[in-house]
Amino acid sequence: MSHELLLQPSTSVEADWIILPVLEGEPLSAMASALDTALSGGLSRLQARGDVTGKLGEVVKLLDPQGISARRIAVVGLGERGKLTPARLMRALTTVVRDVCRVADQTVAVVLPVFDSESSSQTIGSLSISQRASIVATALKVGTVTPALYQAKPERFAPKQMSVVLEDESLKSEVQAGLARGGILGDCMNLTRELVNRHPGEVYPESFADRAAQLAITHNLECDILDESRLRAERMHSLLGVAQGSTRPPRVVVLKYRGAGDTDPTLALVGKGVTFDSGGLSLKTSDGMKTMKADMAGAATALGALCAIAKLELPVNVTAYLGLVENMPSGNSYKLGEVLTARNGVTIEVMNTDAEGRLVLADVLSYAVDQGVDRIIDLATLTGSCVVALGEDVAGLFPNNAELEQAVHAAASRAGEEVWSMPMFDAFGEQLRSDVADCQNIGTRWGGSITAAKFLEKFVGNTPWVHLDIAGPAFAESAKPHRDPGATASLLRTLVELATPSW
Ligand code: BES
Ligand code: MN
Ligand code: ZN
Repeated sequence: MSHELLLQPSTSVEADWIILPVLEGEPLSAMASALDTALSGGLSRLQARGDVTGKLGEVVKLLDPQGISARRIAVVGLGERGKLTPARLMRALTTVVRDVCRVADQTVAVVLPVFDSESSSQTIGSLSISQRASIVATALKVGTVTPALYQAKPERFAPKQMSVVLEDESLKSEVQAGLARGGILGDCMNLTRELVNRHPGEVYPESFADRAAQLAITHNLECDILDESRLRAERMHSLLGVAQGSTRPPRVVVLKYRGAGDTDPTLALVGKGVTFDSGGLSLKTSDGMKTMKADMAGAATALGALCAIAKLELPVNVTAYLGLVENMPSGNSYKLGEVLTARNGVTIEVMNTDAEGRLVLADVLSYAVDQGVDRIIDLATLTGSCVVALGEDVAGLFPNNAELEQAVHAAASRAGEEVWSMPMFDAFGEQLRSDVADCQNIGTRWGGSITAAKFLEKFVGNTPWVHLDIAGPAFAESAKPHRDPGATASLLRTLVELATPSW
């Protein structure tokens, strides 16, 4: 669903809900004042009594307001003007959107967070008008789609119509550009979320690859799917080792978007796509396994980002490489002590079959390198250790190249997402020594996210590379006011920002 832009006074907007953003500690904006006047001072009185403070994420509802066309108002606080960031604006808007979408077939209109008679170059906090419009559109998409894919009576519903209200016609073109971009980001985040949220009986390597092939058609991407015989021909015995315990055969999907010339550099997005991680013979506990349908979030995020980059027609070349396997225990499983030979010839002694993500990525990374890509970002729900280190909301960043590291940080900050650099000291790599092979696939308990990254580093050669461990932020175990439980599509916007020259 696209967003209609309404160039009309907010007082005459027909809608079940009108969402009004307000800043903390400031008088009402021009658009809010117009509503206030129509409501005979109904907003300013709430503000004077301290019932509307504008604190970040505060939602105050006025049901059955008299004097305006909309049936209900939800006032949402954005916090202080100077502190407004992409993340804070997104948080406030998804909070209010989730709050009002409890009934089916509603119409929802959002008053754009434009507060004074602004010129088009003005920013609030760090946000231009088109950035604010983009975030409004993304929040409307992401906040209205739930993980309740299999529920008879969902708790929330996408509105039948969503619109955005703007009075100042001179800002129309920036606002429209922002809405278009934000809408694409929201749709692609929801695609990623859906793939991750679907149950693992439905999403397995072949079905994931089929979905990718369909998306390649609708997004005009080149698509190559490597089946088992091709994976063998490509010597991907590390990935094949993980896959062999499952009745579901593995796939590697390669999707190419060419928005620039043939001689221009290519950015590779490599995703871990373990469609279910039981741990294999190093079997997980039930508790450890219950969210492991989400172990393909890296692949789903790379796919969603590539779709967004294609829809935005960004002038860059980007290729996604998705390593899709299921990790299962069986009579065919790869074993502890088994030595796998990765595609680049490195031999790996398997000391834990639950450290499977790095074995999958090893081959996919070296395949991307051999295809001559210029920069690699990989995304993976790789280690519980990263969640211990950085918590559930922050992704770990592990670089082999300072320039690319810096570029990812800059992109994440524009996207309003949180990443933190971890040290790639050689001592961590030394934990991977094996007595029989070139390396083993685990280290000690300590610094486990870094040893995992040092393992991956063996497969990227000299290509500038950043590994992003999204084990924490990819999947939320419980709801918060601003987001659903389940898949988050975390870092999708960072990838798109990274691929965006400037806008
Ligand atoms: N998929 C898991 C990592 C994970 C854990 C993701 C929790 C999301 C939430 C990964 O394959 C794994 O099992 N890693 C092991 C590595 C260990 C055996 C060295 C881990 O982190 O415990
Ligand atoms: Mn595992
Ligand atoms: Zn895993």
